[in-house]
Amino acid sequence: KATFTLSDGATLDDLVKRDSYEVALRVMSDEELYKLEMERVFAKTWLLLGHDTEIPNAGDFVVRDMGEDQVIVTRDRNNEIHVSLNVCPHRGMKVCTAEAGNAHAHRCIYHGWAFRPDGSFIGAPVEKEQMHGNLLTKDKLGLKKARVEVYGGLIFATWNIDGPSFDDYLGDMKYYLDQLFCRTDSGLELLGPPQRFILPCNWKIPGEQSGSDGFHTLTLHRSLMEGGVMGGTPESIYDNAPGMYGVDVSCEQGHSLRCLEAAQTFKMFSDISFEGKSVEERLQMLPPPGITKELIPQLFNNLSPDQVEQLATIPPQVGGLFPNILVAFIFAPRTDGGSSGALALHTYVPRGPDKVEFVNFIFAEKDAPEQVKRDMLQNSIQQTGTSGVIEQDDADTWPQIMRNARGVVSKDITLKYQALHGHERPEGWKGGGLLYPGFTKDDTQWNWWMAYYNLMAEA
Ligand code: FES
Ligand code: FE
Repeated sequence: KATFTLSDGATLDDLVKRDSYEVALRVMSDEELYKLEMERVFAKTWLLLGHDTEIPNAGDFVVRDMGEDQVIVTRDRNNEIHVSLNVCPHRGMKVCTAEAGNAHAHRCIYHGWAFRPDGSFIGAPVEKEQMHGNLLTKDKLGLKKARVEVYGGLIFATWNIDGPSFDDYLGDMKYYLDQLFCRTDSGLELLGPPQRFILPCNWKIPGEQSGSDGFHTLTLHRSLMEGGVMGGTPESIYDNAPGMYGVDVSCEQGHSLRCLEAAQTFKMFSDISFEGKSVEERLQMLPPPGITKELIPQLFNNLSPDQVEQLATIPPQVGGLFPNILVAFIFAPRTDGGSSGALALHTYVPRGPDKVEFVNFIFAEKDAPEQVKRDMLQNSIQQTGTSGVIEQDDADTWPQIMRNARGVVSKDITLKYQALHGHERPEGWKGGGLLYPGFTKDDTQWNWWMAYYNLMAEA
């Protein structure tokens, strides 16, 4: 049951129309709705903040955002990771004004209250005069703490202390995400601080696209096919685009991933045939991006045989985690004919109803040679970075949708999600979740909106 009514009388059911699979465009610009989203989505669900390789040593910290709330992500002396609200409980100043660094005490610049990396209160500058009074004991004066979970080195946190566990949040997607984030002995490394830039659009415009909008690849990213990167020929792009076919995986939590056949999707690999080849042979013929021949045995140590087989054959390549994370695992060609690829995550951090901060986290395997890491970094920047050939297309489109969402007439247009064909388990498929084989469809994005609906309906 939807539990809010906006001041003009609109209810959640008027905005997300479950009977006709439409969403009112005004959801992208409405300020009251945005405030409710901060409470009901961003203060309730799990959010990605960074990677543990950003803070390898005791005292290391980075400052990040959970919705509009800023937090300090730290590592303490016991090697534990903490996420604390960056708000001084004295008079509300930011405790940490740097973006990243190392400190064994965070001292507020306003009146000098100091806090440990785990958020606990150390003291005020003039202890003997009881500068913090004597009504509250020190254990009551620490920074507000979020609940933290580290998965594959990725640091997630939530304010929903008693809410769903991280495993419940990931659900059936863990099987697929392990193939990208938990596949080698030493795991991944974040390559440098994330790239960040602000775009003039609401967070849900890129957010709902990360619900595996496969269709836009065909048109908006057409240059990938015209340039011969993806399969098909320029003349037959709309009839014969292997990148449009695969198995889209989704779940009721709103996450999704598009699994595409490694050897079929890209024109440059079209002479590779896996017919009659073992998993080991397939990996040798076309190693997944970031995996060198030396790292192949590690895949078998860290993943189940079924997971390795999928990674070798029809890996998850693009998708997202609800509410604001995009996953990109890209088989990237090089001008010399080789391929290394890219592995990146984006978060779309809300900065008001009409602004989003696009954060691009770029990864490589920690144990990969330096040259491979450089290739992964370069590929990620060239494809999915601020200046990348893929994301530039998207970053040009989203602000134009935003502009339309503000027009008094155009705001009432509805977005259509009616290419729904229902889920169906392909024969022999080993992973879980809701499965959508064949040509890409709207089902995964509609699942994203249903996850949004369900959170927004809860007070
Ligand atoms: Fe931080 Fe006063 S606001 S010490
Ligand atoms: Fe795109």
